[in-house]
Amino acid sequence: MIRRPLTLAYARWHARRPHVHDVDGLAILVNAGVFDPVLTKVGGWLAGVAPTLSRPGERWLELGTGSGVVACALARAGTRVVATDIDAEACRNARMNAALNQLDVDVREGDLFAPVAGERFDGIVANLPFWPGSDSAPIGHAFAAGDDFQLLRRFVAEAPAYTPRAYIVLSEAFVAFPEARAALGPAARLERRCWHRGEWLDLFAVD
Ligand SMILES: C[S@@+](CC[C@H](N)C(=O)[O-])C[C@H]1O[C@@H](n2cnc3c(N)ncnc32)[C@H](O)[C@@H]1O
Repeated sequence: MIRRPLTLAYARWHARRPHVHDVDGLAILVNAGVFDPVLTKVGGWLAGVAPTLSRPGERWLELGTGSGVVACALARAGTRVVATDIDAEACRNARMNAALNQLDVDVREGDLFAPVAGERFDGIVANLPFWPGSDSAPIGHAFAAGDDFQLLRRFVAEAPAYTPRAYIVLSEAFVAFPEARAALGPAARLERRCWHRGEWLDLFAVD
């Protein structure tokens, strides 16, 4: 179980330092203030899983791309990718990582589905914030799911208009996992459950 005060303090400290990770052969620069996909484990894991869900040539959307690691992994596997994030710095960071790895990712800034309004995708994958509320979020947008996990609820409600296959990941190690899981609704089904670097990570299908 994550100890919340320690997690918050460490995440705030860590978020101020730019660094580079090797994620399965991708060079991933993480700028200050952008969500670290390796420290927090979920993004790095999802970068390995997402290409196993898609097929080359398909068109996929990654919501809340952060450093762009998942979008880059999809693009490397031959998927056409649109990646969105509400945070301007995250979008800059994702574009840098796509360029660094010589990959084609269409990065767009905006709130959830707003940058892709009216478009259709073969699949959607998301590692959205699952910290309840907004005040306690360690690095702003990257962690805050809003009151009553509003962001997760919006994802579940809006995704079917954009794709027949939508996936969202949660970590069972997170202190509010039961509430975050409940926010996905009873129809969400567990697609994958993996033990990854000391945490159970769950991928839910919400189509
Ligand atoms: C938990 S991080 C995941 C980053 C990356 N996908 C990964 O797995 O490493 C969540 C990301 O969602 C973004 N985000 C938060 N609220 C959002 C919203 N309403 N619309 C789009 N992106 C949002 C944050 O800025 C952050 O980059």
